[in-house]
Amino acid sequence: MKRPNGMMIQKTEDQIALMKQSAVLVSQTLTEVAKMLKPGVTTMQIDKLCGEFVRDHKAIPSFLNYNGYPYNVCASINDVVVHGFPNNIALKDGDVVSIDMGVILNGWHGDHAYTFILGEASEEAKQIVNITKESLYKGIEQAVAGNRVGDIGFAIQKFTEKEHGYGVVRELVGHGLGRSMHEDPQVPNYGKKGNGTKLKENIVLAIEPMINLGTKDVYTEDDGWTVRTRDGKVSVHFEHDVCVKKNKAMILSDYSIIEAAEAANSNLTPSKVFTF
Ligand code: MF3
Ligand code: CO
Repeated sequence: MKRPNGMMIQKTEDQIALMKQSAVLVSQTLTEVAKMLKPGVTTMQIDKLCGEFVRDHKAIPSFLNYNGYPYNVCASINDVVVHGFPNNIALKDGDVVSIDMGVILNGWHGDHAYTFILGEASEEAKQIVNITKESLYKGIEQAVAGNRVGDIGFAIQKFTEKEHGYGVVRELVGHGLGRSMHEDPQVPNYGKKGNGTKLKENIVLAIEPMINLGTKDVYTEDDGWTVRTRDGKVSVHFEHDVCVKKNKAMILSDYSIIEAAEAANSNLTPSKVFTF
C-alpha cells in the first residue's frame, strides 16, 4: 500500500487495452462471487472459487504471496476494513462483505473490489455502502490529466466525511497500477484541492475509498494483515481501475456485470448503480 512517490508510468493504447482485459477478468471473477453469495457460504469457498476462475482464464491471482499474503482474495466482513483473511465461518444475513481481488494477465495487473450486502442489512449499512460507491465515482471524475492527486482525495473526503459524517481511513491508499500492483502515485482518499502530483494522461490508477461508519481510526490484527475499525463499526470498500484521460477518465474494470448478477441474486441487497 505505501510507496515513495516517484515516476508515474504512462501506458500506450495497446497496453491500456491489455490492462482493460486484466481489470475485466477481476470483474468477471467478482461476478462469480455475486452469483454464489448466500448465507452459509464461507469466504474460504469464495477464495477457492476465485483462485480457480482466474487460473482457468490463464491468469495468476496476484495477492497470493504478495508480501507474504496467504490467500487469493481479501474478504473483509463488517468491521474489517481491508485485507481480511478468508476463513471457514458461514456468512450470515446482514453481513457487509467486501471482496478484493487481483490478477496478472499477460503481465498486466488488474486489482479491484466490490462490497456486497447479504440479505437484509440495517439502513445505516445500506446507506454507507451506497455512499462509498458514489464517492468512488466522485473520485474518478477528478482523474483527468492536469488535475492533481489531491483533487481525487478531496472529492472523496468532502462527500463521505464532510457531507455524510463518515470516517475516511488514512492509513491505506489507492495507487498506480501496471506491470506492478503498486506504482506511483499513491492515491489517498483524503486531501486538498490542487495538492499533490499532477496526473498525466494514460496512467492507470486503482482508486479505492475505504470508508468507516464511525471513527476513521483502524488497527491491524496480530496476523499482520487484517485491518479493523477501532470502534467495531462497519467499513466499506469499493475499488475501480481507471485510466486517466484528458477530459474524462476511462474506467477499465466493469461493475455492470457484477451489478447484474447482484440484482439477480435474491440473497443480496443490491447497491445503487451509477452511470459514468
Ligand atoms: N487492493 C489492495 C491494494 O491495493 C489489495 C492488496 S492485498 C495484498 O493494495 F494482499 F495483495 F497485499
Ligand atoms: Co488496490
